[in-house]
Amino acid sequence: MNKISIGLAIIIFFLIGFSTAAHAQKNEVKDNACVGCHTMVGATKGILNDWSMSKHAINNVTCDSCHAADQGDKDSFTHNGFLITKAPSPGDCSKCHPDQVKQFNAGKHSLGWTKMETASRYKAIPNDMMRASMCEGCHSIGKVYADGSAGKCDSCHTRHLFSAEEARQPEACETCHMGLDHDQIEYYRTSKHGVITDLDRNTTRAPTCVTCHADGGTHDVSQGITLGSVSQGAFISDRNSGNDYITSPDGIIMRSITQEDFNSGRTTMLQICSRCHSESFARGVLEQADEIKRQSDAKVGEAIKIISDLYNDGLLDPMPENRTLNPVTGNKLTLTGHQTYSNTSEIEAEFFEMYKYALIHAWKGAYHMNPDYAHWYGWAQLNLDLEKIKAENRTLRRLAELEKALETEKTGTKAGVVPGFEGFVAIVALAIMISIILIRKRR
Ligand code: HEC
Ligand code: HEC
Ligand code: HEC
Ligand code: HEC
Ligand code: HEC
Ligand code: HEC
Ligand code: HEC
Ligand code: HEC
Repeated sequence: MNKISIGLAIIIFFLIGFSTAAHAQKNEVKDNACVGCHTMVGATKGILNDWSMSKHAINNVTCDSCHAADQGDKDSFTHNGFLITKAPSPGDCSKCHPDQVKQFNAGKHSLGWTKMETASRYKAIPNDMMRASMCEGCHSIGKVYADGSAGKCDSCHTRHLFSAEEARQPEACETCHMGLDHDQIEYYRTSKHGVITDLDRNTTRAPTCVTCHADGGTHDVSQGITLGSVSQGAFISDRNSGNDYITSPDGIIMRSITQEDFNSGRTTMLQICSRCHSESFARGVLEQADEIKRQSDAKVGEAIKIISDLYNDGLLDPMPENRTLNPVTGNKLTLTGHQTYSNTSEIEAEFFEMYKYALIHAWKGAYHMNPDYAHWYGWAQLNLDLEKIKAENRTLRRLAELEKALETEKTGTKAGVVPGFEGFVAIVALAIMISIILIRKRR
């Protein structure tokens, strides 16, 4: 198309635009003025193409059905005579899909944004541009829009195809449920369930993510979740902490649920498993995962105890009060929850990898029937990490003792006492110790 015809098209649609602008203000944009001009001038071709293949196109749900804004909407702007928004919200979808929006709000996906915003690791990132390409890329699933509604519906059925079939595939979850701290896609893909799905895409023999997490097409992905919930999961106590975190007996910051809630969540999940397995088989598998979680949490608890003791003895190098302060907890020792991966000490950095990666793989792997993640990436790595933490603890304590000895020696010298044979031996021993430590560290 040459420049003149583009110009003509724009003029024609401007005219149509102005004739319907009055309606647009009342949120009744005339059908297809948007589609017509975009087609004519070749604007946003990919979007038009996706949309034209969608159920929306067949049902005459056009650009304006979602993009039209009301006068006074915070994110609205005038576009060729129409008042529109660049970001339709779940509030807009709910006009036609109220049930899906309601279900979505009941599940934890709707918390994605607000939980992220309060996190210290979010606040510690240098600026907004970096945050947008990092945390926000995934946590936008709970994005809060100008109208106050939360949830980015195009997270699973991508715009502008908005296909239910696409959202049923495990890949729909992959961009977010992957990586070092929550590799559900990999746990699943290499489990027996995932392998069967890989071998035969069209089979209903094996479950996919949504079989277990969106039973009956629900948009509440939190159904049937008990100890194995997001982040560090939950423990059983006499109260349900809801979406608040509390400190577990092992010292890990997580949610707490009651035995009753545990039982009802477990029943929900087992109803799904027992469509294919015997209930007792499936119950056994989930109880094994519960046990892996408890044992792994206890290992992390041991590490927390070691590091807290070092902190109480003033032996962390550097101590929290001598670092850039944690944006949420300030100069307090912070393990799990708001722990950051910058401005920390070596032993705390080792701990971070232990609780954020190894611990997670152990039990999240087990809940997804993946023996390799449960063991090699999880339990085995967790134990190795604990040994490293114990060794670093011994090193820090030995160094402190030697420093103290040297200090005593120095004060002795100042008082006019000539260092005797014992003093000489102590200094040589200290020098040897420090060299050994330095050599070991370099390895
Ligand atoms: C007269 C032609 C014309 C009409 C009518 C029109 N558009 Fe557009 N629109 C365009 C062109 C051209 C662009 C590309 C501009 C650009 O790339 O910056 C565009 C861009 C957009 C954008 C992206 C804006 C941005 O800043 O990123 C949205 C959203 C949009 N149109 C939606 C609509 C909707 C909804 C309607 C109907 C209410 C509509 N358009 C009607 C021509 C039109
Ligand atoms: C079913 C609702 C719906 C329909 C119909 C719809 N959109 Fe969108 N559109 C969305 C949503 C949702 C977003 C993403 C919102 C966000 O970023 O949070 C979006 C984003 C956009 C964007 C900005 C992002 C980008 O990729 O550039 C443009 C431009 C756009 N739409 C154009 C159109 C055009 C043109 C049509 C008609 C052919 C159309 N939309 C039809 C829901 C819709
Ligand atoms: C004006 C009404 C309307 C609005 C607004 C609307 N939709 Fe739809 N949507 C429909 C209709 C009609 C269908 C087709 C229903 C059918 O085939 O049973 C549909 C179908 C769908 C489907 C299922 C497609 C499939 O493959 O079966 C999805 C997913 C969907 N919409 C998502 C959205 C999202 C997300 C939004 C908001 C960004 C939205 N819709 C806004 C009317 C709307
Ligand atoms: C755009 C990123 C994104 C996509 C895509 C995504 N999720 Fe999530 N999911 C998240 C985030 C972020 C959370 C944690 C939300 C929170 O609690 O703050 C989460 C949490 C969950 C939970 C935990 C619920 C609980 O109560 O503990 C389940 C289950 C889940 N998602 C399943 C899925 C499934 C299944 C899919 C694919 C169909 C999917 N998710 C697609 C980002 C995503
Ligand atoms: C975590 C992924 C995910 C997110 C986010 C998501 N959906 Fe869906 N959606 C699905 C899946 C999976 C299906 C197919 C359910 C089924 O039929 O098994 C679906 C189906 C639908 C359907 C078709 C229902 C039917 O019975 O035909 C509509 C409408 C819909 N979603 C709207 C929405 C709206 C609105 C939002 C935002 C509030 C949204 N979805 C967000 C995964 C998601
Ligand atoms: C065979 C059923 C099943 C399949 C398939 C499945 N999950 Fe899960 N998922 C579970 C169980 C069981 C739990 C833990 C339940 C509990 O807390 O008791 C869980 C927990 C989760 C959680 C919370 C944190 C965690 O990992 O424990 C997320 C997020 C999640 N699943 C996402 C996914 C995604 C994404 C997929 C697909 C790649 C998937 N799941 C496939 C059964 C399944
Ligand atoms: C690759 C996508 C991705 C990125 C990047 C990401 N997250 Fe997440 N986050 C998730 C998913 C998925 C979950 C839930 C799954 C799980 O925990 O098993 C989650 C869980 C969380 C939770 C727990 C929410 C709850 O309800 O307990 C917090 C807090 C969090 N993330 C904060 C952040 C912060 C802060 C950043 C950036 C520093 C970040 N995330 C980066 C995907 C991501
Ligand atoms: C849609 C049917 C289906 C659902 C639902 C399902 N599974 Fe499976 N599962 C299978 C099939 C088929 C296999 C492959 C059996 C084999 O290994 O030969 C399998 C394999 C397994 C395996 C590994 C093989 C073995 O026998 O040790 C475990 C463990 C397992 N499932 C547990 C569960 C649990 C727990 C749930 C519910 C959270 C569940 N499954 C839900 C169909 C299903």
